Amino acid sequence: MSPIYHLLYTSRRAESLTEKQLVDLIKWSADWNAQHHITGFLIEREGYFMQLIEGKEDEIITLFTRIESDPRHDDVIIQAEGTSNARLVPDWHMERVKLDLSMPSSAELLEVYRRGREALPYTHREEIMRILEQFTSAARKKSS
Ligand SMILES: Cc1cc2nc3c(=O)[nH]c(=O)nc-3n(C[C@H](O)[C@H](O)[C@H](O)COP(=O)(O)O)c2cc1C
Repeated sequence: MSPIYHLLYTSRRAESLTEKQLVDLIKWSADWNAQHHITGFLIEREGYFMQLIEGKEDEIITLFTRIESDPRHDDVIIQAEGTSNARLVPDWHMERVKLDLSMPSSAELLEVYRRGREALPYTHREEIMRILEQFTSAARKKSS
């Protein structure tokens, strides 16, 4: 099996983007991702996004190039990227996830968010996969 490429970014939601438009965007993205074997999640919190996309490296890079230039957000910053042997969220094509503060690693994810708000990259990149593994495992259990 070929390795899975993960990319996590933060960005600032455009003020003009309405809730209805966001719901439609997530639905559209989930359909497109499902057809292209891309999985991930999107968190929206207080006007900022954090999104994980995972799949084949060339497809993730191509998708991220499109996402990065999308006017529905700005200050797009890659917080972590790399390969591993398995998907973190194999059954989510673009799940909207709530950052529930009682969940493991949510405090650390909030720290990544804070860096996003300051338009800075997260400083402990090597830790991010551990944080994401713990967070997504708890979030998947909660949603199933
Ligand atoms: C926050 C955010 C997340 C997005 N996530 C995805 C995604 O997971 N998959 C996807 O195909 N498009 C996603 N998009 C939409 C892309 O930016 C782009 O509009 C879409 O892929 C269509 O590309 P095109 O406009 O070049 O035709 C996202 C956009 C935003 C603002």
